[in-house]
Amino acid sequence: MIPDDQVDEVRARADIVDIVSEHVQLKKSGKEYKANCPFHDERTPSFYVVPDKGFYKCFGCGKSGDVFSFVMERMGLDFVEAVRHVAARSGIEIREVSREREEEDPHRALYELNTFAREFFRKNLTDPETGAVARKYLADRGVTEEVAERFGLGWAPDEWTALRDTAAKLGLDEDLMVEVGLLGRRERTGDAYDRFRGRIIFPIEGLSGKVVGFGGRILAQDRSDAPKYLNSPETPIYHKGSVLYGLSGARHTIRREECALVVEGYMDVVSLASHGFGNAVAPLGTAMTEEQARLLSRYTTKVVLLFDSDSAGLKATFRAGDVLLAEKLHPAAATLPPGEDPDSLVRSEGAEALQRHLDDAMDVLDRKLQILEEKGYFRSIERTRSAVDRVLPTLRAAADPALRDIYVAKVSDRTGVRRDTLEEEIRKEGRRTRAVGTPPPAQTAPRGRPPSTVLRMGPERELLAIMIRNPEYVERVAEWLGPDDFVDSAYRAIFQTLLDDPELRSPPPSMDPVAAARFTELLNDPAEIPHVGRVFEKAVTRIRAAALDARLEALHRRVREATDETEKRTLAQEKFTLSKELRDLDPEYWASTLRRIQNDPQREQHNP
Ligand code: UTP
Ligand code: MN
Repeated sequence: MIPDDQVDEVRARADIVDIVSEHVQLKKSGKEYKANCPFHDERTPSFYVVPDKGFYKCFGCGKSGDVFSFVMERMGLDFVEAVRHVAARSGIEIREVSREREEEDPHRALYELNTFAREFFRKNLTDPETGAVARKYLADRGVTEEVAERFGLGWAPDEWTALRDTAAKLGLDEDLMVEVGLLGRRERTGDAYDRFRGRIIFPIEGLSGKVVGFGGRILAQDRSDAPKYLNSPETPIYHKGSVLYGLSGARHTIRREECALVVEGYMDVVSLASHGFGNAVAPLGTAMTEEQARLLSRYTTKVVLLFDSDSAGLKATFRAGDVLLAEKLHPAAATLPPGEDPDSLVRSEGAEALQRHLDDAMDVLDRKLQILEEKGYFRSIERTRSAVDRVLPTLRAAADPALRDIYVAKVSDRTGVRRDTLEEEIRKEGRRTRAVGTPPPAQTAPRGRPPSTVLRMGPERELLAIMIRNPEYVERVAEWLGPDDFVDSAYRAIFQTLLDDPELRSPPPSMDPVAAARFTELLNDPAEIPHVGRVFEKAVTRIRAAALDARLEALHRRVREATDETEKRTLAQEKFTLSKELRDLDPEYWASTLRRIQNDPQREQHNP
C-alpha cells in the first residue's frame, strides 16, 4: 500500500499538464489547456486541463478527474499502479508500507478537525448575515469572491464559543480541538473557548492541500489590545518553518512562469492573486527557512523577493536571499517605493505598476553592491576592503557553482580583488561561519567539551564573541536585541560600541576601563565558535527570555502591592500573557522559572 500522505504528495507535486501531454496535444488557452478529448471522438476540443486545480474535464463526454484517474482511465491501470506511474514520471520516490502501518496515521484526527473548522469559517463568511461585514471588508480590499473561494477564506464570528459549540454538537473531541490550536482553555476553570474571534480566516495548507493551521486578521480596529494577526500555534501538524502560505495553490503557476514571488504574509498573497499574480507565496511569522527554500526549489530557480523597502525589509531580503542561494536558487530583490507593500502598490497603482517593479528586480548580489555603492563604500581603499567582507556571506551562500562564479567575477571587477584571493577568503571564512543552509562541519573538538571558555560565559558574552568574529552578525543581533537587553553593564557598553562600528578591533579611548578590559580579552580569545548560527539563535532567545522574566518579576511585585481589585486583575492578565510569551519563546527557560516559583511557597503560580 502507498500511504495517504504520499499519494497526496505525488498528486501535489505532479504536473498534470506534463502527464496529460504524454497522451494528447494540449494547447494553452488562458489559464487552462485544451485538446480534443482522448476519451471520445471529437473535432473541436472540449477537453480541458486546469493545472491550478489539478484536474481535467471534458464538456463533451463528461469525463473528469485528477492526474491519477486520467492515467487509470487512459492506460488501464489500477490506482496503486497509477500513483506509481505518476510518481516515476515526476521524479518522486515512493515508499510503500504494509496496510497496518498505513491505517495508523496518528494525525488524521487533527486534519479532520481542521477541515471541519475551515468549513465552519467558510460558511460563516458566505452566510448572508453573519459574513456581511467581513465580505465587505474583503471586497473593499480588492479581494474578489473567486479568489476568496480559491484560498478558502473564512470568517470567525466575534463570539467566544461559536466554533466550540458547533464542534460539541457534532461530538468532536474538545481536547484535540485545543491540541490543534483552534480552542484555548481558561486557566482557572479549564473551560474551552474559540481562539479565533472576529477575524478573517486564512487556512494554511500543506503541499498536499491538507489544512495544517490557520491565520486570522482582526476586523474591528478598536480592539487595540488584540494583535492584528493571530496564527495557529506550533502543533503536531503545523510547523511554521516548513510551510509556505499559498504554495499549494501557486506551485503550478510558479513552475509555468518559472518564477516565484515571495511576500510577507497572507494579505499580500491573496491581494496579488486578486490582481493576476498567482505565483506569490509567503513565509508566515518567520524569516525564510532552509526548508521553505527547498520547497520552492522543487518548482523554480528564480525567486523575486518583494518585501518593504525600509531597512528592516532590506535585512529580511538579504537574509532570505542567502538562504535561497544556499538551496541553489537565484533570488532577486524588487524595490518598492518607500512605504508601499505589494498589496498597497497593486491596489493603488495596478498590476502593471507591480509588473514594472518585478521586471526591474535586481539579483540580490547586484542589489547589495548597489547599496554599498550608494553608501560610499567604493570611494576609499579602506572601505572597499570592508565592502568585500560584507559581500562574502552572499558569495559563500551561493551553492549553484555557475552562479557563484558569476558572483565572484562581479565582486572581483567591482573591488579589484583577484578572483583566487576571493575564493581563498570564501573558503577561509567558510570554516569559521558556515554558509547558511550547508551542513555543519564535522566536529573536531571532543564531544561534550566546549572548545573554549567563550561558550561557557553566558549568552551575552557568546553573542559579543560571535559579533566580533563575524561582523555580519552585528546587524542580525541588532534586529533582535537592544543595548537595554544586556544586563551586564560592561557587555552592554561593548555591544553599543560594536553597533556603532562593527569593524572596531580595539576599545575606544572613551570606554570604561572594565568594559575595555573585557573587550580586549574578547578580541584576543582565539577560540573558534562551531555552529555559529545555532549558538546565535540560542543566545538571542536566552537573553530575550531573561528580559521577559525580569518583566514578569516586576509585574509580580506590582500585583502583590496593588490594592485596587481592577488594577490587580489587569496586572494579572498582563502577567499571564507575558508568561505565555516566555513559555513559547524558550520552554527550557520557562521550565526553570517554574521550578523557581514552585520552590517559593509565598508565590502563587503564573502558569499559562
Ligand atoms: P500589514 O501590517 O500591512 O497587514 O502587513 P495588513 O493586513 O495589510 O494591514 P493594513 O490594513 O495595511 O494595516 C503586511 C503583510 O504582512 C502580513 C500581512 O498579511 C500582509 O501580507 N502579516 C502582517 C502577517 O502575515 N502577520 C502579521 O502578524 C502581520
Ligand atoms: Mn498592508
